[in-house]
Amino acid sequence: MYQQAAWIISVVLILFVILVFLYVVAHSGQRVEYEPIQKKGYRIRNVWFLVVIAAIGLATFYTLRDLPFERPAHAADPTVVQVEARQFGFVLSRNEFRVGEPIAFQVTSVDVNHGVGIYDENMELLAQTQAMPKYTNTIYYTFEKPGTYQVLCLEYCGIGHHVMTATITVVPAQEGEGK
Ligand code: CUA
Repeated sequence: MYQQAAWIISVVLILFVILVFLYVVAHSGQRVEYEPIQKKGYRIRNVWFLVVIAAIGLATFYTLRDLPFERPAHAADPTVVQVEARQFGFVLSRNEFRVGEPIAFQVTSVDVNHGVGIYDENMELLAQTQAMPKYTNTIYYTFEKPGTYQVLCLEYCGIGHHVMTATITVVPAQEGEGK
């Protein structure tokens, strides 16, 4: 939704800039008195200032209200999994889950900054966050298909960055042991 709104606003503003440019080009040959133009300009500037303040205020209110994005409503009581990143691997407190089980991966690092990317079998990125020392970042995710998933480091963290992986197994809903 925000993506689409951003598109539409961008296109409208680009058209506006083009129109202003064309207006300026069309009138650039004329000689006119400076003072009335300046007065008019100042009036427009005052109105524009209020419009911008109102627009930014509204946009801030409506977009900040939805933060954090991507937190599913059903994650009120998720399975909490500790994910510890280190040079060069991940330690997950659990790595087998059921389809449909809401999970909160609590990600941190014991040494340097890493990234945590969860990939499906086609190596498509499903969710990701940073693994930072002394911070915990949470990924809320619910697997929809059984299978083997890969966790890859997404931040260059040293000589073994490319071997920094882990595996997650997701079993059909009825086979899992539950939490
Ligand atoms: Cu850890 Cu790259």
